[in-house]
Amino acid sequence: MARRAGAFVADTPPGAGLYLWLDPSGLHLCRAGRPVSCLRVDFLGGDQGYRAGQLGRQRELVARACGIRGNAAINIVDATAGLGRDGFVLAGLGARVTLIERSPVVACLLEDGLARARQGGLDGIASRIRLVHDDALPWLQGLPADRQPDVIYLDPMYSDGRRRAAAGKALALLQTLLGDDGEATPLLNAATGIARDRVVVKRQRRAPPLGERPPDYALKGRSTRFDVYRVNAARRADAGEY
Ligand SMILES: C[S@@+](CC[C@H](N)C(=O)[O-])C[C@H]1O[C@@H](n2cnc3c(N)ncnc32)[C@H](O)[C@@H]1O
Repeated sequence: MARRAGAFVADTPPGAGLYLWLDPSGLHLCRAGRPVSCLRVDFLGGDQGYRAGQLGRQRELVARACGIRGNAAINIVDATAGLGRDGFVLAGLGARVTLIERSPVVACLLEDGLARARQGGLDGIASRIRLVHDDALPWLQGLPADRQPDVIYLDPMYSDGRRRAAAGKALALLQTLLGDDGEATPLLNAATGIARDRVVVKRQRRAPPLGERPPDYALKGRSTRFDVYRVNAARRADAGEY
């Protein structure tokens, strides 16, 4: 797995920098130092496990933003999968979710976390998730018309540095690995031409909309905001849906 991510494989951790660490509890991304800080994708416990456990009691803002109602099995492409937390919540609410992640290291962490979720009794949720290691822009552009998802979900790293403060330790470590995601506006522009129902962009509560493109509406949480871009009704009418 680590070799596939392009890593040099050794038995002992290095004295400096980032490295992958595999032990019986899973694959970790670690930063050398005192103390060493590590993250792994863990849908069973911790932050992500807690959120998964809340699904029955608390309708998450992200679910409302994506238009999940009842048990309708909508198709969602999470085009910036990251640690899969949002994608796992959406799958937990019944959506079929395709996670797209372009970083080989993060894709390996996700693959490992999903495998442990399956073994740990979350098979039902994990079975609704498909992981694709690819750049979402060409991947979305290459989708045939009959495979277009209902919703495309975007959560790119912010480039203004504010996310670092707002994010938990895990996302801060991820940001050390990946840097900023660069210009994500082309992804938004492509997504609004591909999604059948809407595109949802997660932003920091006070951040400007992605690409300064105003959403149709926004749902605000304590620290984050979900900008919702409804797909042009005329385009859906062209496709014979009305
Ligand atoms: C802020 S993280 C997403 C966090 C995620 N929403 C979660 O709940 O864990 C952004 C991720 O998107 C990925 N990414 C950015 N642009 C991408 C693209 N064009 N295609 C695929 N992945 C991309 C980055 O590698 C990074 O892992």
